[in-house]
Amino acid sequence: MNLRATNRRVARVVAAVMQKGGVGKTTTIINLARAAVLKGLRVLVCDLDPQGNTTDALAPDDLDEESVSIADALNPSDKDRVPIKEVLVKTIWDGVDLAPVTSPEALATVEELIAAAKHGREYRLREALQPVLGEYDLILIDNAPSLGLLLVNALAAAEDDELALVVMEADRWSTKGLVMLRKTVEGVQRYYSPRLQWAGILISKWRNTNDEREKLDDIAAHFPNTEVWASAADDYRDAVPLWNKIKTEINAGKGMDESSDVRLRVTAAEIYSRVVDRLMAGKEAA
Ligand SMILES: Nc1ncnc2c1ncn2[C@@H]1O[C@H](COP(=O)(O)OP(=O)(O)O)[C@@H](O)[C@H]1O
Ligand SMILES: [Mg+2]
Repeated sequence: MNLRATNRRVARVVAAVMQKGGVGKTTTIINLARAAVLKGLRVLVCDLDPQGNTTDALAPDDLDEESVSIADALNPSDKDRVPIKEVLVKTIWDGVDLAPVTSPEALATVEELIAAAKHGREYRLREALQPVLGEYDLILIDNAPSLGLLLVNALAAAEDDELALVVMEADRWSTKGLVMLRKTVEGVQRYYSPRLQWAGILISKWRNTNDEREKLDDIAAHFPNTEVWASAADDYRDAVPLWNKIKTEINAGKGMDESSDVRLRVTAAEIYSRVVDRLMAGKEAA
C-alpha cells in the first residue's frame, strides 16, 4: 500500500449556503479566508456567484473581464474547459488564492451548459478541484443566493471532506426557505455526496434584540443535525455583530485584524478565528 498516497493531506471544503441574498455569505467567506491564512492555513476561495462580489473584494486590480474564470474550469465541453490551475489568481492577501468570476454572463452560461450536459451535472466542480485538493488546507466556496445546480456542485465538490456552512440573520428568514435549504443539502447528502456534513449556523448582522434572541430556538429546530453558533450561555459571542465598519473595511481591502477600530481588530477577528477553528476541527494540523 502506498502510505504517501493514503496520507496525503487534502483540503477541507466548506460551502456557504443560504438562498437569500444580503445575509452575509460573501462577507463571511472573505473574513474566514483572512482568519484562516493568519493561522497559517493554505486557502483557496472559489467564487460561485455570478455577481462576483467575492472576486471584487479579493482579486488583484488588474484582473480583467476577458480573463479566464471559474466558469471556464466548469465548462462541460472537453474542448472549452480550462484546468483550474490556469484559472486561479493570487489575491490581496498572501496565502489566499482565488478562483474568480470575471464576467457574470460566463458563469450563468456555464450553469446552463452543465444543466444540459448528459452526465455528471453535479460533479463539475469536484472534477475541476481534484488537481488542487492537495495544495490547500481549506477551500471556501461562496455561493449565489440560489438553490440551483451551481450550489449542488458546491455541496458535492469534495468526495469525502466537506461541510455546509449556513449563514443567516436571526430575524429575517422564512420557515419555507429554511425547509428548502435543508432539503437541498440533505438531497445532496443522499444522492451525490454522503460524506457531506453540516458545519453549523453562523448568525450574521446580530443586533442582540429580543426578537433575534427569541428566534434562535426556532432556527435550531429547523436544523436538528447541527448547531447554531449563538447562545445565551456565552452571551452570543459567536454571532457576528451588525457593524457597518465591517463592510467598510472589507470594501477597503482590509481584514478585521488590520482595522484601526478595536472592536473589529479584536472582537470580530476573534469570532472569525473561532469559526475557522470549528471548521477545521478534526483535521490534522499542517
Ligand atoms: N456583520 C455585518 N455588519 C454590517 N454589514 C454587513 C455585515 N455582514 C455583511 N454586511 C453587508 O451587508 C451586505 C450583504 O452582505 P453579503 O456578505 O454581500 O451577503 P450575501 O453574500 O449573503 O449576499 C453587504 O453590503 C455587506 O457589506
Ligand atoms: Mg454574496
